[in-house]
Amino acid sequence: MSAFTCLFVCSLLFSLLETSIPLGTLTPSRSIRDGGDTLVSAGRRFELGFFSPGSSKSRYVGIWYLISSETVVWVANRDNPLNDHSGVLTVTDEGVLALLNGTNNIIGSTNTSKTAENPVAQLLDTGNLVVKDGNIDDPDRFLWQSFDYPCDTFLPEMKLGRNLVTGLDRFISSWKSDEDPARGDFSVRLDLRGLPQVVIMKGNTIRARAGSWNGLSVTGRSGLNPNPLLDYKFVMNQNEVCYEFKPVNNSSFSRYVLNPSGVAQRFTWMDGRHSWELLSTYLSDRCQNYAFCGAYGTCDVNNSPPCGCLEGFLPKSPKDRKSLEWSDGCVRRTPLACNGDGFRKYTGLKLPDTSSSWFDETTSLYECKVLCLKNCNCTAYSNLDIRGKGNGCVLWFGNLNDIEVFSQRGQELYIRMASSEFSENTGKQGKSSKIKRAGIIVGAAILVIGILTLGMISYIRNKKFIFKGMTKRRHTKDYANEGLNKDMELPIIDLTALANATDNFSSKNKLGEGGFGPVYKGSLVEGEVIAVKRLSKNSGQGPNEFINEVKLIAKLQHRNLVKLLGCCMEENEKMLIYEYMPNKSLESFIFDQTRSKLLDWRKRMNIIGGIAKGLLYLHEDSRLRIIHRDLKASNVLLDINMNPKISDFGLARSFGGDQIEANTHRIVGTYGYMSPEYAVHGKYSVKSDVFSFGVLVLEIVSGKKNRGFCHPDHDLNLLGHAWRLWIEDRVMELIDEIVGDANTRSEVLRLIQVGLLCVQQRPEDRPCMSSVVLMLSSESLLPIPKQPGFYMDSPERDSSSGKNPTYSANGISISTFEAR
Ligand SMILES: *[C@@H]1O[C@H](CO)[C@@H](O)[C@H](O)[C@H]1NC(C)=O
Ligand SMILES: *[C@@H]1O[C@H](CO)[C@@H](O)[C@H](O)[C@H]1NC(C)=O
Ligand SMILES: *[C@@H]1O[C@H](CO)[C@@H](O)[C@H](O)[C@H]1NC(C)=O
Ligand SMILES: *[C@@H]1O[C@H](CO)[C@@H](O)[C@H](O)[C@H]1NC(C)=O
Ligand SMILES: *[C@@H]1O[C@H](CO)[C@@H](O)[C@H](O)[C@H]1NC(C)=O
Repeated sequence: MSAFTCLFVCSLLFSLLETSIPLGTLTPSRSIRDGGDTLVSAGRRFELGFFSPGSSKSRYVGIWYLISSETVVWVANRDNPLNDHSGVLTVTDEGVLALLNGTNNIIGSTNTSKTAENPVAQLLDTGNLVVKDGNIDDPDRFLWQSFDYPCDTFLPEMKLGRNLVTGLDRFISSWKSDEDPARGDFSVRLDLRGLPQVVIMKGNTIRARAGSWNGLSVTGRSGLNPNPLLDYKFVMNQNEVCYEFKPVNNSSFSRYVLNPSGVAQRFTWMDGRHSWELLSTYLSDRCQNYAFCGAYGTCDVNNSPPCGCLEGFLPKSPKDRKSLEWSDGCVRRTPLACNGDGFRKYTGLKLPDTSSSWFDETTSLYECKVLCLKNCNCTAYSNLDIRGKGNGCVLWFGNLNDIEVFSQRGQELYIRMASSEFSENTGKQGKSSKIKRAGIIVGAAILVIGILTLGMISYIRNKKFIFKGMTKRRHTKDYANEGLNKDMELPIIDLTALANATDNFSSKNKLGEGGFGPVYKGSLVEGEVIAVKRLSKNSGQGPNEFINEVKLIAKLQHRNLVKLLGCCMEENEKMLIYEYMPNKSLESFIFDQTRSKLLDWRKRMNIIGGIAKGLLYLHEDSRLRIIHRDLKASNVLLDINMNPKISDFGLARSFGGDQIEANTHRIVGTYGYMSPEYAVHGKYSVKSDVFSFGVLVLEIVSGKKNRGFCHPDHDLNLLGHAWRLWIEDRVMELIDEIVGDANTRSEVLRLIQVGLLCVQQRPEDRPCMSSVVLMLSSESLLPIPKQPGFYMDSPERDSSSGKNPTYSANGISISTFEAR
């Protein structure tokens, strides 16, 4: 009897399921058929089922809002419609979602590389149809999800952009027409050439450009206030580059749709209203058409005709002056000369197309300008992120396209101009503007004085802050200290204070032996930790040399250089006080079996990039040109976040403005890092540092020291070994196996190639640091390296350096640097 009841209840349930009770999930034993079956999300926001758009007779599987069933957000079989009502959507035992027709032929199916024990398809409240294994709700472990294959609608929590690990590119594509969901001509995607930007494409050409992320919004939108209902997010890391957005709360529905004519629209459905409200449209005015006014043209919707030229540019063809559409764009009034060019600042612009740009998040605006000046193909630069005072750097190469004049929220752009553009302008000024100009100059002078005064006050405060609590005795007898004090903005620290801080220079506080003497760790009374470098008495440096050097170092301020906090010169003692670096030197990591595991590729690349920027600053700062002369792993210190800081400028020399090369009789440096022309002829230039940098790059990549490198097959040093592997096309064998499998293979290959370019025999073949910084982070083709210098273990045996036999007989003491 009870068995019968059960059978009855079960068959009743079954028949209920057969007719349309919405399901929560699909499983291999529960499918949905055309004829009323649907799948509904748990919070009753979205529904999945069969539908026909408009008056079309074709049947599709789609997802729509429960509140608005005519608003379809996703279509499963957009290109393969069914022509009758026989369709069935099912999940197979393997976890494949399949659409079958009346004769059980597969019309469409999903693809998955993962396997499932207990496959379930579920429609989530976000509108995402997912196939998962049992109750595993981790999005990274879904077998498949519809959000990875968007149609014409971009929903909250979807991603637009590329997964760099799997290569999946998610983009929006329009329907063919309102009644045909098949893939249309238009798409919205993230263009990853140069700085990533959102573009609307028609086929393969850009139709409009919403622009790149500037920290607050995309660069291509003006006049829109931040949206109170939506939170936008741009993600760019080694795993993915994509946009997402989320509603701030669940009181509204928002969606972006790319309609069949290629216009992107945003709709919102507020609680309490009963229809969709169109809130914004992209491609609503002419200026939003890509490059409407041509290269160097500016489009301003408030002008009629809207096209104009940037200041310093003229319409390319005279007929354009009258026409409304300047397809030819503008040309420079004065052609660029490359050397001696300057930059003009433009404000209130939509930044130009970034598809041939370079960018970096940690380069400052000043460094950005230096990089741009150094490359004759660079036409403009600007900040990457406009939050606060601005951050990061974007460089443009070639023509500047698609610039708009914005009445609100435009950005600053620095465009390269011939130097005569600037003087010519002042010549043309009328009297009144001359007066204005004079006013500006006076104003600026007052401002500068103000800033200087403020700087002075804060400097004095800082000085007090850092060294408060130390006895600050004045040694009137100490002539040198007085001399130092007078014209140097650097605190002089008293010897007794330093002796106290380092426990009387006790050996347990000794951190190591630096260039010209030991380095001690010390703690000031307030607990601030410092590193004290005590120059040995027989360093051969007189007081004047010391003062010059300290003055030089005190002027250097860069995040990749160790900061000098003060100095001391008393009773034959000369000391330099630096910030303390808890992680010690790069040497203590890369050549150490256990510690080197802490440096993965990402960190190593960051370290190499940081050293390159520090050196670039030393070499290319406009006021001083400084050559470090002793760059090596033990002179690169790591801060708490493993950011590199170049230290030990004990051997650094500054050059006058135009001086390129110098000669010295006292060759100091470190074996294994010295360039041939310096070690052999005493000639040093920025290119000697580039050589040392190249050695360092190869050491970081390989985890092996150049000097003392040995290999069973040959007696080449690390440079020679790398070169040999390069020639034999086996360069991946150079890589430190401790770092494990590098899925960043192409980047590592690039590092090795840059390293080899830097250690080339002839200094003129080596790139300068500005090129190195660009090479490290762009994807442009690199030159092919030539043979390195010093590729045998010691210069005497190096057949590549012509004059070596006289080398050690020349009175140059090798022990000078062997001792280091
Ligand atoms: C199902 O599809 C197959 C292949 O496309 C086709 O040959 C067959 O006629 C279809 N059956 C129905 C009932 O439409
Ligand atoms: C399905 O997966 C196979 C193998 O992973 C791949 O070759 C194929 O292109 C995929 N098909 C689709 C539609 O993604
Ligand atoms: C909106 O609702 C979803 C599911 O109902 C929930 O996961 C999410 O946290 C909610 N969002 C906000 C902002 O409340
Ligand atoms: C949702 O957020 C909007 C904008 O901040 C606000 O106006 C609205 O009152 C919020 N609704 C709820 C239910 O919190
Ligand atoms: C500048 O561009 C030209 C042509 O595209 C190219 O040949 C040259 O190498 C570039 N120069 C630099 C410094 O990038």
